[in-house]
Amino acid sequence: MAQLQLKNLNKTYGPKNIPVKNISLDVSEGEFLTLLGPSGCGKSTTLRLIAGLEQPTKGEIRIGDRNVTYTKPGDRNIAMVFQSYALYPHLTVYENMASSLKLRKVPRAEIETLVTEVSQALGLTELLDRKPGKLSGGQRQRVALGRALVRKPAVFLLDEPLSNLDALLREKVRAELKQLFAAQQAPVVYVTHDQTEAMTLSTKVAVLNNGNVQQLDPPHLIYTRPTNQFVAGFVGSPQMNLFVLKCQGNFAMLGDFPLRLPDLPTMPPEIVLGIRPENVSFAGEMEAGETVIKGEVFLVENLGMQNLISIRVKGDDSLTVRALLPGDRPWNSDAVELFFPPDSIHWFDVKTGDRLH
Ligand SMILES: Nc1ncnc2c1ncn2[C@@H]1O[C@H](COP(=O)(O)OP(=O)(O)OP(=O)(O)O)[C@@H](O)[C@H]1O
Ligand SMILES: [Mg+2]
Repeated sequence: MAQLQLKNLNKTYGPKNIPVKNISLDVSEGEFLTLLGPSGCGKSTTLRLIAGLEQPTKGEIRIGDRNVTYTKPGDRNIAMVFQSYALYPHLTVYENMASSLKLRKVPRAEIETLVTEVSQALGLTELLDRKPGKLSGGQRQRVALGRALVRKPAVFLLDEPLSNLDALLREKVRAELKQLFAAQQAPVVYVTHDQTEAMTLSTKVAVLNNGNVQQLDPPHLIYTRPTNQFVAGFVGSPQMNLFVLKCQGNFAMLGDFPLRLPDLPTMPPEIVLGIRPENVSFAGEMEAGETVIKGEVFLVENLGMQNLISIRVKGDDSLTVRALLPGDRPWNSDAVELFFPPDSIHWFDVKTGDRLH
């Protein structure tokens, strides 16, 4: 049975301000769910509803076999970590970590065991006597995590816990988080707008837009089979190339070049083609009979490990293809021949944005 269940959850602030629209989700023991989406899509509101800091307009929240929809936050057995850390500045690291246990009247010896155990796991042992003002951002973040971990809650909620850290530290703490949560069973709901965090940490990802769940799947499916154009464009960096193409017979026209359409119930007049930059191949690796797309390189950006290459496709100046390639320039002039492997092409409906194939 799922440890955390959201059933048709809805939060309305006003007729045009509905940050959470009919969200239903399950998170089981051992699962790490990430709510991923752009700013304002309703991630924090959803988390605050689970924590009990807001009340839903409609719907139900269950933890274990309890309906906690209208239960006070303190009675839900949830631990929440905020972006701001929210540490008590006048208390030491030890006291910060122990505070919620003291409040629950946990015996002193037990508190000591729990704090010692968690501070060891987080590398905080040396810092237990310090106050938050004398810690680095990363250390403060670990104290905030430690404070959540000592509570052994039924559910962990984390809202953008890494966004105040610089890029290097974020990578380090991200890896630590992954190990830390892999070693415990309580379900985790993690909010971020950072797709790398979502891809690396989660067992499943809910992509949100405008208060709606667009797709709920393990990270690899979010990436390889985005359910609509929004998810396709939101997940992936550099972004998936997306083109609106006219259809002629069984082909979609990319500039001068016909690309075979998949089998569809009806052939639309226009269609959206998506292909990830790393899936664009240089012609030569293709099967006989496939279309060669001719283009011209107009920009090469060296990312160190890879090159990001912007290419204008012949016959339609407005199209730009970006391809990743290792090593040096594999071509002699700016004229290049490309190939889109059919298995790597995503097709979406022009009007609804839904995946067609
Ligand atoms: N207390 C409130 N009263 C009215 N509107 C609110 C309130 N809290 C949030 N909203 C609105 O709800 C929408 C979703 O907000 P929310 O904080 O959930 O977004 P988010 O996905 O967490 O975004 P971000 O990535 O910027 O943190 C926003 O349009 C916001 O203005
Ligand atoms: Mg937020």
